[in-house]
Amino acid sequence: MLSSVVHSQVQVHHPYGGVVPELASREHLGKISTIVNEALDQASITQKDLDGIAVTVGPGLIGSLLVGLYFAKAFAYVLNIPYVGINHLEGHILSIFLEERTPPLPFVVLTVSGGHTALYHVEQIGHYTPMGQTLDDAAGEAFDKVAKVLGLGYPGGVVIENLARSGNKDRIRFPRAYLGSDALDFSFSGLKTAVALYVKKWRESEPKEVSMADIAASFQEAVIDVLARKAIAAAEKSKVGSVVVAGGVACNQALRDRVKDLASQCGMALYYPRPAFCTDNGAMIALAGYHRISRGERADLSLDVKSRYPVEDIPPL
Ligand code: KG4
Ligand code: ZN
Repeated sequence: MLSSVVHSQVQVHHPYGGVVPELASREHLGKISTIVNEALDQASITQKDLDGIAVTVGPGLIGSLLVGLYFAKAFAYVLNIPYVGINHLEGHILSIFLEERTPPLPFVVLTVSGGHTALYHVEQIGHYTPMGQTLDDAAGEAFDKVAKVLGLGYPGGVVIENLARSGNKDRIRFPRAYLGSDALDFSFSGLKTAVALYVKKWRESEPKEVSMADIAASFQEAVIDVLARKAIAAAEKSKVGSVVVAGGVACNQALRDRVKDLASQCGMALYYPRPAFCTDNGAMIALAGYHRISRGERADLSLDVKSRYPVEDIPPL
């Protein structure tokens, strides 16, 4: 990897407590040329050194996807080089390969972010079998919503994690949705509602015996408990020796520690990308594109964006 430049929009969306689609696409439009030039500068290369371009085509917000796709099309056309459309989730699944220590194939990956919570069996690069997914909210979304209810701002993951450090995770037993003894799907909306109801009562109670940190820690524990157990269960079910945890929520140290504990108890190896490769970044998309372009995949100019783009629909390699 020669460079990885990320322009965070957190400050733009912060006052609204979540991503505002219109503002997101405008921000993309305003920044995309600068970011691409910065990535070339940091890599000490010029446009002429590029052999191909990878661009996210979905799933995601249409406006933002369109900005990226049309920029990539024009760029590839002018430079007369190939380009390919990448599924955002394939980027998260392969992000571990940006690290030096990589898992042997096959492995199981838990991708946990603001928009997705899913388990995949990775047979080889380009071959992903879904094993379970969330039936309602994503884990990151639950972190963001609980942070909002507690008045902690957006995005919520880091704030909740920091607050949870000084809280007692066993203070409140929030519900865990296991959905059956060997189910690998997830559900976080019940937990989110339970926390919201608890916080409402807690605000009215005086004196307060439970601290806000206790609520954050108990909520985080409920999420981690389910994520870690299901990730290990998926690895056991598919008889692989390696588990990867990726996506924005994989920055959470408590989650990393829990999966690591469970994995070592079962004799499995755990791999996770560094935090900068867990949250959304261009390098993971470039990596997926590298594999596709070098195996001959090419997109023509009719390629379009997809707001919904299940992993099952990714073309096999
Ligand atoms: O992968 P990502 O950058 O974007 C999506 O594709 O959604 O993930 C962002 C999500 C947000 O919901 C954010 O609250 C969560 O990841 N997140 C965390 C932490 N850092 C980011 N959740 C829990 N603990 C963290 N330390
Ligand atoms: Zn993402």
